[in-house]
Amino acid sequence: MPEHILVAVAWPYANGPRHIGHVAGFGVPSDIFARYHRLRGNHVLMVSGTDEHGTPITLAADKEGITARDIADRYSQVIGDDLFNLGLSYDTFTRTTTENHYAVTQDLFKTLYDKGYILRQETLGAFSATTGRTLPDRYVEGTCPICGYKDARGDQCDNCGNQLDPVDLIDPRSKVDGSTPIFKETEHFLLDLPAFGERLSAWIGSQDHWRPNVRSFSLNFIKELKPRSITRDLDWGVPIPLPEYVDRDDKKIYVWFDAVIGYLSASIEWANNRGTPEAWRDWWQSPDARHYYFMGKDNIVFHTVIWPGMLLGYGAGGVYGGGSAAATVGAQQAEPLQILYKTLDSLEELLPSDGVGRPATPLQLPYNVVSSEFLTMEGKKFSSSRGVVIYVNDVLSRYDADSLRYFLTIAGPENQDTDFTWAEFVRRNNDELVATWGNLVNRTLTNVYKNFGSIPQPAALSESDAAVIAQVEGGFASIGELLAGARFKAALTEAMRLAGLVNIYLSEQEPWKVIKVDRERAATIWYTALRCVHSLRIYFTPFLPFSSQKLHEYLGHDGFIAGPLEFKEYTEASGRSHRVLTGDYTGWVGRWELSDLPVGQALREPKPLFKKLDEKVVEEELARLGA
Ligand code: MF3
Ligand code: ZN
Repeated sequence: MPEHILVAVAWPYANGPRHIGHVAGFGVPSDIFARYHRLRGNHVLMVSGTDEHGTPITLAADKEGITARDIADRYSQVIGDDLFNLGLSYDTFTRTTTENHYAVTQDLFKTLYDKGYILRQETLGAFSATTGRTLPDRYVEGTCPICGYKDARGDQCDNCGNQLDPVDLIDPRSKVDGSTPIFKETEHFLLDLPAFGERLSAWIGSQDHWRPNVRSFSLNFIKELKPRSITRDLDWGVPIPLPEYVDRDDKKIYVWFDAVIGYLSASIEWANNRGTPEAWRDWWQSPDARHYYFMGKDNIVFHTVIWPGMLLGYGAGGVYGGGSAAATVGAQQAEPLQILYKTLDSLEELLPSDGVGRPATPLQLPYNVVSSEFLTMEGKKFSSSRGVVIYVNDVLSRYDADSLRYFLTIAGPENQDTDFTWAEFVRRNNDELVATWGNLVNRTLTNVYKNFGSIPQPAALSESDAAVIAQVEGGFASIGELLAGARFKAALTEAMRLAGLVNIYLSEQEPWKVIKVDRERAATIWYTALRCVHSLRIYFTPFLPFSSQKLHEYLGHDGFIAGPLEFKEYTEASGRSHRVLTGDYTGWVGRWELSDLPVGQALREPKPLFKKLDEKVVEEELARLGA
């Protein structure tokens, strides 16, 4: 039975180009996972988009003296291009500034508010003593009240990882000019997290399959749950859906509250864009569906505590819970929310299901929260402000996407912080990717192409022929299990080990010598190697989609083993349009299972799959970094 799998990928802030640490955390692992499950025949929905609200965006805008929307427009484009070029196969990579996202966010806010899970409170907000303007949380710095770290930010302490409020900081100071902020009373809305405390702790406690750090970090966090502010004194964000606030431009919904809702809103957008507006429910309202979230470790609590709390509170309520929408929305407020979708394909107004004939079904909680550690570079933590940064688009302008994907998987921060160095990048590319997998493919295909032109007919297989085939074909089970368990580094290591076995086999059999005396035996050896390469092609597809597609074609196969991606433009009711990274992945011909190697099939002229890098690349790159 195919499963429904939601691959929910953290939403990158649209405040600058992404560096390789970002895509090592959320990007490459999620894509490997999605591609694997598609090859298995499962129904994968992979969603994300650019995170475009809040102070990360307004600060970038202020710096350049342009509007937040300009910044978001620019970097949603840049980031979308990077992810496309890296081959990240989103079903929908959209933006948080769509009308659809606003409507879904407001429905969640409103429903939680109506159910009493959102509290109103006068709290102290930080204002600049110099300008009188609101001082965004992360622009207040001071000493962490929990661990004593001197440079904690108003939103979070980077040392102990705890979420903070600016008013908690000891000796607060403005990051802009060092002045002491003024704290003034202002009304805010707080998510009543303690209301979910018991359910969250029971739920997290029973998630034995989570990575240990994710689980212990989360369990620790919920020991002291406090209501959390979900509004900010800002003019850039989703409007608060209450009559007295909806038109105000000095207070908006907090960016993290709206961003996590993106997983749901993007799923709904995906369903609408493809003309099946109810289809998202197969992932969100089916108890059998499994949700996997991918992110860097600084995002953990938002996915293991805050978002699950929001989902528990929303339950089967609101427009999207499947209950009666009309009865829930607007029941206590004079102005019901208006939720309209308009897309290019269907310009008629589509109201979401009112739930008639559909039992109320709570939205699914995460099944797994797969978080990575940090990637440092040349010994230091990535930091755009300090200039220690390698952008994805820079790397992709000089190197192949598969080389980067290989490095970030085999040497990336899956379970511990790891360091990217150019020397290691070159070494792993040359000594592993090129020397093992690239070499196996290259010598097999060039020899067979030259001597036979097509997949040769083998004679009876010898014991060593059969043995190497059996070992390699065992990878469907062993590598498959590792991938399903999100153990990407181990899975890729195993695929490389199997490729190495075939290299050893070839060195022992020496078919390039045998062919001079016994053409039939040589044909059998090459056939054996091709059988292995044919299966290895599938193993490498989730990791290295571009070179796997080439290999697929050199072997004489047609169609897409796994691809391609495309951009589509959608226009909403307001007339504003946005670009979505998507693709029709249903036609993939690749399958995660043993398939026949068709004897007699003509090969296409092969070229090397990977490029060997010159050692001098290391110096050039270090010079670029100013190191
Ligand atoms: N924009 C956040 C970051 O870059 C991640 C948001 S993930 C989501 O750290 F949960 F909000 F979607
Ligand atoms: Zn701290």
